[in-house]
Amino acid sequence: FFFFFFSSSLPSLLLGALLTVQMMQNPQVLAALQERLDGLVGSPSGYMESLPKIVKRRVNALKNLQVKCAHIEAKFYEEVHELERKYAAMYQPLFDKRSDIVKGSYEPADDECEWKADEEEELTEEMKEKAKVEEEKKDEEKEDPKGIPEFWLTVFKNVDLLSDMLQEHDEPILKHLQDIKVKFSDAGQPMSFTLEFFFEPNEFFTNTLLTKTYKMRSEPDESDPFSFDGPEIMGCTGCQIDWTKGKNVTLKTIKKKQKHKGRGTVRTVTKTVPNDSFFNFFAPPEVPENGELDEDSEAVLAADFEIGHFIRERIVPRAVLYFTGEAIEDDDDDEGEEADDEVRFFFSFLIYIYIYICK
Ligand SMILES: *[C@@H]1O[C@H](CO)[C@@H](O)[C@H](O)[C@H]1NC(C)=O
Ligand SMILES: *[C@@H]1O[C@H](CO)[C@@H](O)[C@H](O)[C@H]1NC(C)=O
Repeated sequence: FFFFFFSSSLPSLLLGALLTVQMMQNPQVLAALQERLDGLVGSPSGYMESLPKIVKRRVNALKNLQVKCAHIEAKFYEEVHELERKYAAMYQPLFDKRSDIVKGSYEPADDECEWKADEEEELTEEMKEKAKVEEEKKDEEKEDPKGIPEFWLTVFKNVDLLSDMLQEHDEPILKHLQDIKVKFSDAGQPMSFTLEFFFEPNEFFTNTLLTKTYKMRSEPDESDPFSFDGPEIMGCTGCQIDWTKGKNVTLKTIKKKQKHKGRGTVRTVTKTVPNDSFFNFFAPPEVPENGELDEDSEAVLAADFEIGHFIRERIVPRAVLYFTGEAIEDDDDDEGEEADDEVRFFFSFLIYIYIYICK
């Protein structure tokens, strides 16, 4: 077993998995496992209870100190937010220039367009010449496009998290997306950030700006102060989209046959129902006063918060790398490694339990 434990090669993992599955099918093993697990659960609290009252009292003092730590940590994150605001102002001129180049309202000069070639792409002079001629031919065929066409749409398509939301009928609309900005809440205001989506005039809606605001909580929750781990997204609000007539892609009309109960006659009625679309992002489920959400809305919001966070943290700061695909490979590598680690950990854990039972 220690062979599996310390080895991470796939065949041994699979063999380990097979053995584990066999072990888990053995009722005696299962019963023993249950017994051991039962013994483990609650043992920490059992230990606390066994302590003399006077010691328990002191432990409570430690917990109160811990709560105070959580409040100081909250102050720390408030200052981080202040720093983010300060630095956002420094990035903004560069993001504005990015936007101008994407839109085609600014043509970068030659020195701004120089970029070291990839080492892999070392070409002979002859090949370079050939490539240049072909490029020129390509350019002649197409009329000169404005800026960088479909920049943000391409970014969306390249990021799994976003492309999952993207429907075919959203694509012509997102071709008109010209910029995404992050706006932080002002100092002294409750912590939040707003994603601003700027559109050029288009035939789909009359808005030129769509917004999505995420409210953050940066205070420890009084009822559960130890769960505090930095600011958390608590809720979000979208905005109204003023769709041009017939262009509302978040709606679809369906025909439904309806049977009259008494007479038994059948008639067809048309109904409008929600349609899948990225633009549902701007109409998130509302959290009711009592804070209780049904499961579907909860899942939608959980995904929504993740997307909002990702756009703010990754997409807006490094859009060009998502456009070219360079940022995506990095992210995928990280995820792959993490998943591997999890699998490895899981099997090690099962095998550990097995050894423990057999002892
Ligand atoms: C609704 O969604 C379907 C499939 O995603 C799409 O083909 C259709 O165009 C949408 N309806 C409208 C009115 O946009
Ligand atoms: C578009 O559809 C949504 C439902 O998905 C609806 O709430 C909204 O009022 C519609 N807007 C227009 C202008 O028809």
